[in-house]
Amino acid sequence: MTRIGILTSGGDAPGMNAAIRAIVRTCYNEGVEVYGIYNGYHGLVNDRIKKLERSSVSGIIQRGGTILGTARSEEFRTDEGLESALENLKKHQIDAIIILGGDGTFMGAKELHNKGIKTIGIPCTIDNDMGYTELTVGFTTAVETALEAVSKLRDTSDSHGRCNIIEVMGRNCGDIALYAGLAGGAETILVPEVEFELGEIVKKMHNSRAKGKRHHIIVMAEGIDESANLKNEIQEKTGIETRLTILGHVQRGGEPALNDKVMASVMGVRAVELIIEGKSGLALGNKGEDIFTMEIEEAVGVKKEFDFDVYQSFEKLSI
Ligand code: F6P
Repeated sequence: MTRIGILTSGGDAPGMNAAIRAIVRTCYNEGVEVYGIYNGYHGLVNDRIKKLERSSVSGIIQRGGTILGTARSEEFRTDEGLESALENLKKHQIDAIIILGGDGTFMGAKELHNKGIKTIGIPCTIDNDMGYTELTVGFTTAVETALEAVSKLRDTSDSHGRCNIIEVMGRNCGDIALYAGLAGGAETILVPEVEFELGEIVKKMHNSRAKGKRHHIIVMAEGIDESANLKNEIQEKTGIETRLTILGHVQRGGEPALNDKVMASVMGVRAVELIIEGKSGLALGNKGEDIFTMEIEEAVGVKKEFDFDVYQSFEKLSI
């Protein structure tokens, strides 16, 4: 009889708890024993593994974070770490794992699959930087958090007649900046996928002043990596007082947005069903309303494409 382990790894993402809840409930409905592996791959290597009860997941669907804890573990990448992880799984008679996380987490899932552990991956990261799936669990919530901040900054930007730069997360992916910037009516969006020239930003700010606009909001992805310099340069070249807000980890928390809860729940149920069907080495993904599977090996190799159509719409609207 299959025993399933659940592991959350990498940066936490709102919706992970909804997926954990769905997995545990489905396991109980199907008569499958389910174990929590605490603190990601670190817990797998160091035997932080405990049986989960049906009641362990009550009241968590609306909570951000992950009740299992998470970590970025280097130990698991070593031969000894992998060996110790496999021994711990054997000790608890766990022959299948559902893994929640981003690209790095999926690489670990691939290793376990290659060693004969049935493995299914659920894409969870606020960055939305996994090319094989349209959305990752947690992204929508993070964008909504960023959007709320953009709207609040616009108030003060307008009152003081300042430029406000807001730096959002996303590593090398500009999706959080793009969608929060577009929906927040920003004047400028800076993402790693699109080159920019300071001169153009300065020109835009002068033009917008000439039209009588008092505020200027720049949403910048952290992948641009020059927020402090940019703030000083803009202020110097335009003479417009400029302030920088680095939004940071607040984007990782909070009650998951509707579609993060729904997608996480549907994928959680499907992941257990796939294991019961004897499947392994698969990543779940979404295209619109549809949930599909792809070999993890293939999924981690799909390059993330930036949505230039959305970016161009933004450009037309921000003139
Ligand atoms: O991958 C999620 C993410 O929040 C990135 O957007 C960010 O660059 C990184 O994690 C921050 O990592 P940490 O929580 O380890 O500081």
